[in-house]
Amino acid sequence: MTLVPDIVLHVVLKSLILYFAFSNNNYMYNSKIIGLGHYVPDNVVTNDDLSKMMDTNDAWIQERTGIKERRWIKKGTGDSSAVMGAKAARIAIERAGLTKDDIDFIVFATLSPDYYFPGCGVQVQDMLEMDTIGAIDIRNQCSGFVYAIATADQFIKTGMYKNILVIGAEYHSNGLDKTTRGRGVTVIFGDGAGACVLSREEDNSKGILSTHLHSEGKYADKLIVASPSIGHWVPEILENSEEDVSYFPYMDGTFVFKNAVVRFSEVIMEGLAKNNLNKEDIDMLIPHQANLRIAQFIQKKFKLRDDQVFNNIMKYGNTTAASVIIALTEAWEEGKIKEGDNVVLAAFGSGFTWGSVIMKWA
Ligand code: UT7
Repeated sequence: MTLVPDIVLHVVLKSLILYFAFSNNNYMYNSKIIGLGHYVPDNVVTNDDLSKMMDTNDAWIQERTGIKERRWIKKGTGDSSAVMGAKAARIAIERAGLTKDDIDFIVFATLSPDYYFPGCGVQVQDMLEMDTIGAIDIRNQCSGFVYAIATADQFIKTGMYKNILVIGAEYHSNGLDKTTRGRGVTVIFGDGAGACVLSREEDNSKGILSTHLHSEGKYADKLIVASPSIGHWVPEILENSEEDVSYFPYMDGTFVFKNAVVRFSEVIMEGLAKNNLNKEDIDMLIPHQANLRIAQFIQKKFKLRDDQVFNNIMKYGNTTAASVIIALTEAWEEGKIKEGDNVVLAAFGSGFTWGSVIMKWA
């Protein structure tokens, strides 16, 4: 006669197996990047070009942000967040040595989707003529790509999917206030897209080692596009005065800057500590390209050499959810990342949201 019913024994045993399998990061698998690609529109907009639209100048923009030029989509080219994302994705899939049919899932990060709904992920599924795989959009602004890769990583860790397409793409230029009123924000932002294929890695010491995500919604209004929203819809906006700028991005730049430098440092330290790594162990830091001065502050604080931090904000401006993946792709293309390197991704932005990814490049 059994004292404990079989079903209870079964549940207890299964729970114990799951506990030991998933505790202390002993997941079934790790994930690693096996293909990278990026796409930016051809149209280069220099600081001098901006000074013809508004009261600004090259010296101010370069001194305060490090930006020399950015890419803005030229109307009529057909580019959009989804279209650019699909272009970057095709390159990433090809470089991964895969075809579209090998992809199990799509994660698309953007704050500038083609439509209020549905999201860009499903558009990419259609544009790439993929099977009816799942697709989600991540709406986490500048830290969107870090959130996207963290999300994809979890699906791979549990064994649910093997190859995930992760995209970050942004079409800012059509939504910016291109008058002197908007100069504090408009000069910063650029358009572009990056993508990677995240794939199953059986060796738990390689690939993505950990991801760290945070938010602080009380500062949502410090960096925001407030309209259109369900509470403030288009007819209402049209009836408002010309002073209604709620549909342009608003940023309390100084406040955002101060929070960014603190949170960037914290979340990088958190990632290093989790993996028993020190600042000196960082081979390549890819910070979100928000402002060159923020990246330089972090570089100084972590005592990193120039070759340990990758920046390309000079060429592209701040492309929010696309910035980390475009920078990672270019760093890899330029041969600055090699097997065995400790690569750190870090981002901070609207929400506030921030996060980091610690990888052992494989
Ligand atoms: O990506 C998501 C996270 N975003 C960030 O991390 C961005 C963080 N913030 C920043 O990067 C900086 O705060 C900005 C680049 C946006 C602004 O730089 P700042 O050094 O904080 O300048 P400020 O806003 O304090 O403005 C200084 C002066 C002001 O003039 P007064 O009041 O001192 O006479 C502005 O009106 O610069 C003026 N100004 C400009 N002048 C020429 C603001 N924008 C411009 C401009 N051109 N584009």
